[in-house]
Amino acid sequence: MLNKPFQLGNLEIPNGVLLAPLAGVSDVPFRRICQELGAGLTYIEMLSAAGMPHHNRKAGELIARDASEPVLGAQMTGAKPEIMALGAKILMEKGVAVDTLDINMGCPVKKIVGRGCGSAIVRDPKLAGEILQATIEAVDIPVTTKIRLGFTKSEQTVEDVSAALAKAGSEMLVIHGRTRDCGYSDPVQYDRIKDGFEAARNAAGDRKIQLVGNGNIFDLKTAKEMVDKTGCDGVMISRGCLGNPWIFDQILNEHERQPTVSEWLDVVLRHVEYHREFYTEGHYAAIRFRKHLLWYVSGYPGSRALRAEISQVNSMAEVRERLLRYADVLPDELRRYGDPHEFAKTGAYDPKTEMDRDHDRGIEHYEDS
Ligand SMILES: Cc1cc2nc3c(=O)[nH]c(=O)nc-3n(C[C@H](O)[C@H](O)[C@H](O)COP(=O)(O)O)c2cc1C
Repeated sequence: MLNKPFQLGNLEIPNGVLLAPLAGVSDVPFRRICQELGAGLTYIEMLSAAGMPHHNRKAGELIARDASEPVLGAQMTGAKPEIMALGAKILMEKGVAVDTLDINMGCPVKKIVGRGCGSAIVRDPKLAGEILQATIEAVDIPVTTKIRLGFTKSEQTVEDVSAALAKAGSEMLVIHGRTRDCGYSDPVQYDRIKDGFEAARNAAGDRKIQLVGNGNIFDLKTAKEMVDKTGCDGVMISRGCLGNPWIFDQILNEHERQPTVSEWLDVVLRHVEYHREFYTEGHYAAIRFRKHLLWYVSGYPGSRALRAEISQVNSMAEVRERLLRYADVLPDELRRYGDPHEFAKTGAYDPKTEMDRDHDRGIEHYEDS
């Protein structure tokens, strides 16, 4: 279904199952794990165009690329064409080896929207097109866009914004099927994503624009639902991969099998190792890993008790030791859930406030830098 080469302008990626840029989450170690499990393209966490001139250690950490990463995208947001163009140019001048650049027109975080960035941009289709055009002129890599259906439920601009972006030369349009005022528990509006895709296709004329659906993709079934109901060329995975990077393999190879405990442990320990390599052994590394650990153990027996323990871990050695101790008592044939769709329904995937805080924390991570 999606396991075939996917073209972004002159860049070919292996498939159309993409890992979204995830503030506070899509760092080098997590991207490596998702790439190994099949993600066709992964992204650096969202950058602020206005913040690009100020570069320090944290910003360096954000834009790092591991030598093993086959292909990599960056994502940036900016309120004005000239700000985005300058931010994109600086990113290239810093010598960051990214293969494609996405413009974020969907971030709902107050601080970002208040500056006219993220989802504030979808209020003005003409401005959206101008921001994209200026960015395309500033860089020589494929430029893409990610939008929401509109700013509010009663202010839906998806057709006009999609058409403006397709006309201005977006190589790929990702539509998250919610408006800015929706919570994660609001359903994804497949029909409205489809409307946006149709408008983009019509505006692009003979030029191919890749159309990618985003929102509530938690397993093969929901990926298929996105493809069937919107006619998308690819899917972008967000919350569905938290603690569940196997989702890429499941969608690409069209199966619903959950990993055995030993397969699960193998991947989690590899993530621990990549994390330790990147952040080095220490308190900062352990704190950054805690959320992954909470996501990884969700759905397994005794994970509630482990949660309390996890909030105390202070080093990656401790993380490793707790994990081994925990997995040791689980029978290998145990799967997280009998029914994989249960996975999507757990609290792990709908702590809206936790997610929003995390997103915000991720954003502050570079905003404050
Ligand atoms: C922790 C977190 C961080 C996110 N960071 C970004 C980001 O940096 N850029 C972006 O375009 N979207 C970001 N998003 C939004 C997701 O990419 C996606 O559009 C949204 O979560 C809907 O998809 P889902 O229902 O599959 O999670 C983030 C979401 C979460 C939960």
